[in-house]
Amino acid sequence: MPSIRLGLIGCGGLGRVHADCIARIPEAAFCAYADRVEASAQAALKDFGGQYAVPDADRIFSDPDIDAVYICTWHDTHAPLAIAAARAGKHILIEKPLALSIQECEAVAKAVESSGVTLMPAFKMRFYPLIRKAREFIPQPQVLVGQMMDNRWGDDNWAQDPVKGGANVHSQGCHTTDILRYLAGSEPAQVWAAGGTLTHPGHPCIDQCVAAFSLANGHAISWIQGDAALGQFTSKFFFEIFGGGRSVQLYDRLKKATFFDGSQTWTEERPEEEGFQLENREFVSALLEGRQPGITAYDGLQATRMVLAADRAIRTGEVQKL
Ligand SMILES: NC(=O)c1ccc[n+]([C@@H]2O[C@H](COP(=O)([O-])OP(=O)(O)OC[C@H]3O[C@@H](n4cnc5c(N)ncnc54)[C@H](O)[C@@H]3O)[C@@H](O)[C@H]2O)c1
Repeated sequence: MPSIRLGLIGCGGLGRVHADCIARIPEAAFCAYADRVEASAQAALKDFGGQYAVPDADRIFSDPDIDAVYICTWHDTHAPLAIAAARAGKHILIEKPLALSIQECEAVAKAVESSGVTLMPAFKMRFYPLIRKAREFIPQPQVLVGQMMDNRWGDDNWAQDPVKGGANVHSQGCHTTDILRYLAGSEPAQVWAAGGTLTHPGHPCIDQCVAAFSLANGHAISWIQGDAALGQFTSKFFFEIFGGGRSVQLYDRLKKATFFDGSQTWTEERPEEEGFQLENREFVSALLEGRQPGITAYDGLQATRMVLAADRAIRTGEVQKL
């Protein structure tokens, strides 16, 4: 019998990725599944095992045998589901972004705090071993570059929907802003940005963003996000860190990093992407040990704050304070 009993809300692509990861962690198991498309919940129950599958998450929230829920739904449902889960006393792993607005992020953080539950935003990149190593190698970078460039998103992709998803910069940008903030070792202070709706003309959401953040410690971040085309040399995810005469480049979906210590250069490789498995391990371990996980609701709020400030800078042409 696993110690941590989980409910999965949203049994699509990412819900199933997490279910795969949990299947490899013996101290936890998914026992219940909810998806507004009941067939998706039933398919997950069949493939991953458990007790029941339902169309409505409330059934899971009211189940006293469930310790924690995974929220893997569309972005406009993140805040209401997380608030309901917190009020029901369930711990929460929530897929990114925490929510699409500051008000919703703050409401989630407040509900989590007053219920005393644990919430971990699923910023999988924090767990890639080479990201962690790069952070140790240059703890106070002077200049940071973060880029996430994808092929053009289809117009019928739900994440491109202005309400359900928010398009590329809002949907995925929080991954990049979170890692930039994690690597920076200082909070963002203000942002300049250019870009706009370049790959989906006429769409209400910004889809390309080139931003520069200054940090509280006076250091600088450059952030590029969009779906103009997949970078073949860098891969979709690319980070560069410079400071104290050292540098690191992370590329090949964060499986490779080239380090320079001022005299020697070397490259390290990981055989596969480990972020999903390690973030699941961290969530389960935090619950078992009764401690906060390495990422909190505040990190989710700050990642969204950076995205929204860059969006405002693009739309107004003016520097935005954070
Ligand atoms: N961390 C990553 O690398 C990564 C990658 C892709 C997606 N994601 C995130 O995962 C989440 C889900 O994305 P996906 O690609 O799995 O989408 P998806 O469309 O494949 O799955 C989402 C599922 O949620 C269900 N759903 C929507 N609203 C619901 C509700 N109110 N109650 C119950 N079920 C509901 C849908 O029916 C669907 O089955 C999003 O937050 C997305 O940004 C993260």
